[in-house]
Amino acid sequence: MNRTDFPILNEQVYNRPLVYFDNAATTQKPTQVIDALVDGYAHWNANIHRGVHRLSQIATAKHEQARQRVADFIGAASAKEIVFTKGTTDSINMLAFSFGEAFVHEGDEIIVSRYEHHSNIVPWQMLCERKQASLKVIELRDDCSIDLDSFSSMLTDRTRLVSVAHVSNVLGIISPVTDIIRLAHERNIPVCIDGAQSAAHLNVNVQLLDCDFFVCSAHKMYGPTGLGVLYGKQKWLELLPPAEGGGEMIEHVRFDHTTYNTLPYKFEAGTPDFIGTNAFAAALDYIDSIGRETIMNHEAQLTRYAEQQMAHIPGMHIYAAGQPKAGVISFNVGSIHPFDLGTLLDRQGIAVRTGHHCAEPLIDHLAVPGTVRASFALYNTTDEIDAFIAALRKAVQMLS
Ligand code: ALA
Repeated sequence: MNRTDFPILNEQVYNRPLVYFDNAATTQKPTQVIDALVDGYAHWNANIHRGVHRLSQIATAKHEQARQRVADFIGAASAKEIVFTKGTTDSINMLAFSFGEAFVHEGDEIIVSRYEHHSNIVPWQMLCERKQASLKVIELRDDCSIDLDSFSSMLTDRTRLVSVAHVSNVLGIISPVTDIIRLAHERNIPVCIDGAQSAAHLNVNVQLLDCDFFVCSAHKMYGPTGLGVLYGKQKWLELLPPAEGGGEMIEHVRFDHTTYNTLPYKFEAGTPDFIGTNAFAAALDYIDSIGRETIMNHEAQLTRYAEQQMAHIPGMHIYAAGQPKAGVISFNVGSIHPFDLGTLLDRQGIAVRTGHHCAEPLIDHLAVPGTVRASFALYNTTDEIDAFIAALRKAVQMLS
């Protein structure tokens, strides 16, 4: 892995080399992505789909090439199935609104798991309140894994949609999405996969998964922030009404009747972040230039190594240890408050996240005030894990 591609990794924090283990929150950007952003603003910035002029044509072509690049990256059948959004949260809100308008009625049910991020809970909760439907929760086994038997028994004639994280942002557990999708499809229930934590870390192919919807964020995939994807099978997107109105999403506007644009533009009101989508494509090229298998193996090896080293620290508790994981480790040490541990790690140049990680129902289930979370990316190294372990030992000693 070429760390020199990431300028921020040269930064010092409190006069110490930055060890960035907060990749589940956002990843750092390679020069290739930063350059693509600068190139757009410096050379071809013009609004897309609107101008006959040269720059607008260039910008439009790049934006549509980026859409195709995303489709190829996640294995979609067509670029028409790729809707650009502001991020995973926006994608889920859009889906909850749009799917809810068309298919959810009083007494219907939506299913999520207990370890969802708030962004895969609250939009569904809001929908259920609007429609007087119910939100059902897949509970976890003692080892924090999803109980498929209990999931299967939750599916009813009133279940309209299942929405689950591909990878838990707190625990790193990889959900049994193949089984979840199969069980739901046996009853013709569509499934949305929240890929915020998987898209840059696993080899995602939406056609192989056969999920109906898939959502992810560019900024967690070495790309720019404020940009995400809502993938939907074409047959579903055709059936859904637009979630937002405005320019771009229309065919004709009359005061007595407006008709909507074709896919995917029906879901893209207003000027999109076309500079960002081009830089996102550069991020995907970057990931594929290294290879997703290589990245997965590297991150798995870092996770194994870190968990082995951490296990030697007295009082260490790693959540969901031993489960199939994607580069995320959540832990606590004895009764030390995670915020105190995180603060002392920060003082030693180590960036981790502490708290409830926007997943309070899971944190309640674990019966802790929060956790400390270390999450890895392709540029992290075993030397950094050694620095993290040394800093952790020092912090634990000071706080015990
Ligand atoms: N969803 C991001 C995280 O888990 C922000 O940190």
